[in-house]
Amino acid sequence: MINLPYEIIVESEKETENVAKSFSEKISPGDIILLTGNLGSGKTFFVRSFCSTLGINNVSSPSFAIVNEYEGNEKVYHFDFYRIKNLNELYDIGIDDYTNDVEAIIFIEWADLWREVIPRHYYEVQFNFIDSIKRKITIKKV
Ligand SMILES: Nc1ncnc2c1ncn2[C@@H]1O[C@H](COP(=O)(O)OP(=O)(O)OP(=O)(O)O)[C@@H](O)[C@H]1O
Ligand SMILES: [Mg+2]
Repeated sequence: MINLPYEIIVESEKETENVAKSFSEKISPGDIILLTGNLGSGKTFFVRSFCSTLGINNVSSPSFAIVNEYEGNEKVYHFDFYRIKNLNELYDIGIDDYTNDVEAIIFIEWADLWREVIPRHYYEVQFNFIDSIKRKITIKKV
């Protein structure tokens, strides 16, 4: 079980998977999870591992679509803000309707790029490279 704030150095993909699965026990619909960290640090990998606990096995990077929607034991919205150039792109897809949906678990990769649309309460999972497979993962609740 994970107690927040939480920090760990993972030494393999399997360990990241275990962190995502333990973290999922804390999360319920209405929760928003921001994922921050450099390109290729493991944000999508983490969402994929988390979602497997909900019976969702079609997680992919939403970079081009801005948001992917999945349905398993719970409903999931999976955002990626990396390619957003203008805040209106988010308002155009109805970002507030998504973030206000208390029936969905919401993941937002690169959320730090557009903090304006992030509600006041969220979890943040931060990834830092140590080397090609080691990562520092920090999780806090705000
Ligand atoms: N310990 C680890 N935890 C997570 N991923 C790892 C680990 N070691 C290696 N990897 C690899 O690192 C890559 C992480 O890619 P991923 O798409 O999850 O990154 P990302 O943070 O979502 O990048 P982007 O910013 O482009 O969306 C994957 O290829 C994964 O297999
Ligand atoms: Mg990604």
